[in-house]
Amino acid sequence: MLVFENVREMQKWSLDQKKAGKTIGLVPTMGYLHAGHLALVKEAAKASDIVVVSIFVNPMQFGQGEDFEEYPRDISRDISLLKAENVAAVFAPSARDMYPVGYSTFLEVTGEMTNKLCGKKRPGHFKGVTTVVSKLFNICIPDVAYFGQKDIQQVIVIEKMVKELNFSVKIERVPIVREASGLAMSSRNVYLDEVQKEAALVLYKALQYAEKLINGGEKDTAVLSKGIESIVKAEKLAIIDYIEIVDDVDLANVANLSNIKGSVVIALAVKIGSTRLIDNLVVEV
Ligand code: PAJ
Repeated sequence: MLVFENVREMQKWSLDQKKAGKTIGLVPTMGYLHAGHLALVKEAAKASDIVVVSIFVNPMQFGQGEDFEEYPRDISRDISLLKAENVAAVFAPSARDMYPVGYSTFLEVTGEMTNKLCGKKRPGHFKGVTTVVSKLFNICIPDVAYFGQKDIQQVIVIEKMVKELNFSVKIERVPIVREASGLAMSSRNVYLDEVQKEAALVLYKALQYAEKLINGGEKDTAVLSKGIESIVKAEKLAIIDYIEIVDDVDLANVANLSNIKGSVVIALAVKIGSTRLIDNLVVEV
């Protein structure tokens, strides 16, 4: 497995692979890999000749007072995990190489889609994500790129960017990987102590409750949101950031499930102590 730390070398190698007729599957990550990330890698290995995994804790997508400095990092562990998968190359650039002094080019999906849900509390976050992801597309030249449903707003924003800017890359969504307890895997779960980890189970519990109500015929999203809220509020350590029920194509709010064809996303962000956790469930209606 090759490890590239340099933008030019990564791009040259990717171009050579394309010239040799290989298809490239890219899995962008910020490292500290877990089974959720590895599910994306396994999907990529099924479909492409070559799998590239990027590991870059992107400073541009962290706001002031967020956890950029503390974000967990363990590149040697990540590399050994990826060696065990069918990965041809890891791209692990420095921030200085990605954003040289004087860097001033950004890519932003504007409007409601990036201002709601996670975008409300994290202004500029999605601009940082779309800027780095578009750079990764230009450097690694993937045919297909893999993103987790765990960050549903992120993948929907990226799908919009790809469509509207005519990027020649296919975006694949990969379902959420959970621990046996139901907790959605996340690099940020390391911030939780045992008591908080137990409290964090309330996110999935509340989502499952809403799903049960939907399967029982409930259509009114205000009723569903209230139900979710009451479950989360019963957990003393949990503070709700948002509960939203939205369309899974453009994140538009849904008032009544009768108006929807296909699927809705029930999305939650909850703080447990100082750790903000997100989770969601896509439910067919
Ligand atoms: P990161 O949080 O490291 O996640 C990398 C990818 O793994 C994302 O597409 C995310 O949705 C997916 N992922 C994380 N946890 C998952 C889980 N439990 N199940 C399935 N997929 C999961 O998301 C980012 O990094 C960054 O914003 C990035 C796209 C790399 C841009 O910097």
